Amino acid sequence: MIAAEDIIETKTADFVGRDYIFTAMEKFIEHHDRGFLILEGDPGAGKTAILAEYIRRTHCIGHFNLRAQGLNTAGHFIRGLSQQLTARYGAHPAGSTDSGESVSHMLREIRAGLPDELPLVIAVDALDEAEAAPLAANPLYLPGVLDKGVYFVLTTRRNTTPLRADGPFQRIDLRDFHDQTMEDVRRHLENKLSDEALARLVDDSHLSRDAVVDRLGEMSEGNFMYLYYTLIDLVRSPNLDLDRFLSELPQGLENYYAAHWESMGMAAAEAPTVNAWILYVLCEAETPLPAWIISRVVTRVTTQADPTFVQRRLIDWRQFLHADGSTSPAKYSLYHASFRDFLHRHDIVANAAVDLTNVRATIADLLWEHMIGDNGP
Ligand SMILES: Nc1ncnc2c1ncn2[C@@H]1O[C@H](COP(=O)(O)OP(=O)(O)OP(=O)(O)O)[C@@H](O)[C@H]1O
Ligand SMILES: [Mg+2]
Repeated sequence: MIAAEDIIETKTADFVGRDYIFTAMEKFIEHHDRGFLILEGDPGAGKTAILAEYIRRTHCIGHFNLRAQGLNTAGHFIRGLSQQLTARYGAHPAGSTDSGESVSHMLREIRAGLPDELPLVIAVDALDEAEAAPLAANPLYLPGVLDKGVYFVLTTRRNTTPLRADGPFQRIDLRDFHDQTMEDVRRHLENKLSDEALARLVDDSHLSRDAVVDRLGEMSEGNFMYLYYTLIDLVRSPNLDLDRFLSELPQGLENYYAAHWESMGMAAAEAPTVNAWILYVLCEAETPLPAWIISRVVTRVTTQADPTFVQRRLIDWRQFLHADGSTSPAKYSLYHASFRDFLHRHDIVANAAVDLTNVRATIADLLWEHMIGDNGP
C-alpha cells in the first residue's frame, strides 16, 4: 500500500522551481474566502510533484488518486480524509463512505472549530484518475458548495474533469507558463547533471554541460516525466556515446514511449510477444500484481509464460514500474499513468494484436482463487 507520505517524499526529492504556481495558489486563498483552484497540465508535466511539494510546505490535508494501484475510489478518499482530519483536529464522526454527505459533513464540523483566519485546505491530486462518480455527483463526492474558509486545491490533466462547483473557482494551466517551466527544467537538469555518474559522462564527452542541458530541455518540451526516464537511461547505459544518444533523442513524451516500445521489440508486425502481454496485464490490472500472477494470467489468456521470464522482464523495465517491496513477493504496477495511456492508444493495442477482452476478468479470478484457496506460487 502506498501512503501519501511516501508519494510526497519520492515526488519532492529533487524538486525545483514552480514558485509562480505556489504564488498563484497563495494569492487565490488570500483573495477568496473559499473556493476551488484547479491546476491543469499534460501527462508528466509535473502536477503531482507540485501538489506534493505544496502539501509538504503548507502541511495541508492531502490525497493522491492512483488508478494503477486501485487507490482512486470515493471510499478511499473519504476514509483518508477522515483519518487525516481526526489525526489533526481530534475525533469526529467519519460518516458513511458511500455518500457525498459525509465529505460536506466532516468539513463543516472541522471548519466550525477552527479560528476564522485559518484556511482549511484540502489538496487532491489527479482528479482525472478518480473513479467515475454516479449520476450528477462530483468526482470523489467533492462538495459543489463550500463553507467559508474551505478550499480545494486540485490537479487534473487538461479538459478531463467535469466539476460542478459554485463560488470562487480558478484554473491554472501549466501550459501558460512555458518559459518559466523551461527555466525550471534547466535548473533540474543542471542539478541532475552535477550528480557524480552523470557529471562524469558529460566530462568524458566533448560536450559542454550547457549544451547537454539545452538539448535535453528542448527534446523534453518541458515535460518532467520525459527527463525522469531519459536520465535513468543515461545512468544505466555504460560506455554510452553521449553525442549520439542526444542526437537520437525522440521529441516529447509520446515519442519517447514509442521509441521505447520499438526497442522492446513490440512494434514488429508479428504475433504479440509474451513481452507485450506482460505489459498489457500490468496495464489492465487495477491493483499491483506479483510476477507469478502475471505469468498465470498470460498463460491463461494466451501462451505459456514462465514466472522467471516474467520476473526478468519486470526487472528490465523497472523504470516504467512501481515495485512494492513491502509485500513478499513484491508487487508491480505501472509507474506512471501516461505510459498506461500510451499502451491503450488504439494503434498501439492494434499493433500489438492483443485481445484485452478477458484480461481483467482473468486477473480478478486469479486474485479471488488466491484469496480463498492456497493457489500461491
Ligand atoms: N518541479 C520539479 N522538480 C523536480 N522534479 C519534478 C518536478 N516536477 C516533476 N518532477 C518529476 O517528474 C516526474 C513527472 O512528474 P509528475 O508525476 O508530477 O507529472 P504529472 O503531471 O502528475 O503527470 P500525470 O498527468 O501523468 O499524473 C516525476 O518523477 C516527478 O518527481
Ligand atoms: Mg500525476
